[in-house]
Amino acid sequence: MTDFEYLKKYLDNSKLDEGLKRLKAGEPVQYIVGNVDFYGLNFTVNKNVLIPRFETEELVEKLIIYIKKYFNKTISILDLGTGSGCIAITLKSKIPNSMVVASDISNEALEVARYNAKKNNLDIEFINSDIYSNITGSFDVIVSNPPYIAYDEEIMEIVKNNEPNIALYADNNGLYFYEEILKNAKNYLNKQSIIAFEIGEKQGLDIIKLAKKNFPNSQIILEKDLQQRDRFIFILNNLA
Ligand SMILES: C[S@@+](CC[C@H](N)C(=O)[O-])C[C@H]1O[C@@H](n2cnc3c(N)ncnc32)[C@H](O)[C@@H]1O
Repeated sequence: MTDFEYLKKYLDNSKLDEGLKRLKAGEPVQYIVGNVDFYGLNFTVNKNVLIPRFETEELVEKLIIYIKKYFNKTISILDLGTGSGCIAITLKSKIPNSMVVASDISNEALEVARYNAKKNNLDIEFINSDIYSNITGSFDVIVSNPPYIAYDEEIMEIVKNNEPNIALYADNNGLYFYEEILKNAKNYLNKQSIIAFEIGEKQGLDIIKLAKKNFPNSQIILEKDLQQRDRFIFILNNLA
């Protein structure tokens, strides 16, 4: 669908002119109409949350396959940096009886995520937390699409000018969140467990190194997206 078709689908005629002006001024169409489809569900978005990406649908799809392959029980899932809630809410809808906790450091993002859970009739626990700072308990799955862009990396103007910086950039050449999540993950994981990450296409080898350091005996899998870019890491602990 073109951006214009997207505007026409969601805006009534009285708002179309204003919508077109905003589009021409460089605003993403999803913020103008205020929602986006993701894995068969509809999510409200505003400038406080990252616009859910197609690659993240692929992350969710691949993770569901691993969960179905390895777990034959009710599972618990922790989504770190939930943003609009797209990962947590979709997993909750596709894995019946799962217990899902979703966290973010941004209260404004959590407000959107809570709204999206309610709108999709799904029960999720939302927690304001700086990575693990307010998380308790242990989980079968930790999933995260954290901020992973290095501060000096060139990115598209439409992204840089509109989406929240806090959702995009990370220290340590974009690796900060992977390192922090992996360093402490054992405290929040059950023995048999999965860690699932979306990653930047050039970060695969660095994140594999971090994963091996923290999970030397686990199966670490780097997967590509539909455009053949390295975009996902799965760590299987005591499951193979
Ligand atoms: C790349 S966005 C991903 C959002 C959503 N999960 C998705 O896939 O569309 C990263 C999210 O991490 C959150 N975040 C940034 N720093 C954080 C921190 N220290 N602790 C927890 N969440 C953080 C941001 O607010 C943002 O919502």
